[in-house]
Amino acid sequence: MTRTPVNVTVTGAAGQIGYALLFRIASGQLLGADVPVNLRLLEIPQGLKAAEGVAMELDDCAFPLLRGITITDQAATAFDGANVALLVGARPRTAGMERGDLLQANGGIFGPQGKAINEHAADDIKVLVVGNPANTNALIAQRNAPDVPAERFTAMTRLDHNRAVAQLAKKTGATVGDIKKVTIWGNHSATQYPDIFHAEIAGKNAAELINDQAWLESDFIPTVAKRGAAIIEVRGASSAASAANAAIDHVYTWVNGTAEGDWTSMGIVSDGSYGVPEGLISSFPVTTKDGKFEIVQGLEISDFSRARIDASVGELVEERDAVAGLGLI
Ligand code: NAD
Ligand code: LMR
Repeated sequence: MTRTPVNVTVTGAAGQIGYALLFRIASGQLLGADVPVNLRLLEIPQGLKAAEGVAMELDDCAFPLLRGITITDQAATAFDGANVALLVGARPRTAGMERGDLLQANGGIFGPQGKAINEHAADDIKVLVVGNPANTNALIAQRNAPDVPAERFTAMTRLDHNRAVAQLAKKTGATVGDIKKVTIWGNHSATQYPDIFHAEIAGKNAAELINDQAWLESDFIPTVAKRGAAIIEVRGASSAASAANAAIDHVYTWVNGTAEGDWTSMGIVSDGSYGVPEGLISSFPVTTKDGKFEIVQGLEISDFSRARIDASVGELVEERDAVAGLGLI
């Protein structure tokens, strides 16, 4: 049977993450090995030439699933009929920039992109925001797209989730595949809380198996939460291949489902679960099935975990109030 190609829009397509992402999308890793795709690349005018170069390389791969490439600096064109949108391009913080300036600059990107998605995207649009500050950029886009169901806007904490799994594997000598039910709560920032109290390693509770509170507090949590900054320090640029990999994982899992007995972490619009204020885009443990996700309910939250979830959610509340004060949502 010939399948209709899925329209996948990628913003910031000429950037580092774009370069690590597009070839994997075109090869079928985002949606499945039998799903053809059209790529829509959105860049700012200065990025168009480099995006054309990336498109030439995509052509040269002769990917059987790649049915078309559109390069544009117009959001209306990029999101026209989009089924999946990966919002990667964002305004990075530069020297002397205050947080308000950063939020304002990103509001100028994610507000109009949210509006363009509202007006032009396909009815089944799924949005992943990667560009930082990812949760609040996702909130801005979502609030500017009132006709799109709120749950279609998500922010990426899968990189944090994968980082937590990798650190647990390193600590215990288990294989990555043996590690299940890790949770990232809150913001994709240094306040995030990687939670191992419900995680399992080869079927055993991770926190009980490791039984090392000092390691948890002084090593594991800060290593995962500050990994982005550590990569920037060592590599001289922010994570790109691992971020692209996490974006692939996030969308693939959203579309194709979580494995039985496992869950993943996604920044999603809160329904008030676990005391996270309704409407905030915060990371939760979720299961996915048939293109939909559900927050894992009923987890016992210790005082230790509660304080850390509250701190990260508190930061999200501050960011939300700041962008509301700037008239961005
Ligand atoms: P980059 O600077 O290499 O590329 C960004 C690209 O976005 C550039 O080509 C730029 O021209 C383009 N761009 C800027 N504004 C745009 C707009 N309005 N529309 C379309 N394109 C636009 O950056 P990168 O390394 O690819 O990272 C991209 C973003 O992802 C950054 O904000 C980074 O902090 C973030 N990031 C997030 C995570 C996460 O886990 N959520 C991980 C790593 C990086
Ligand atoms: C990461 O987690 O690697 C990035 O979000 C870091 C950054 O600030 O770009």
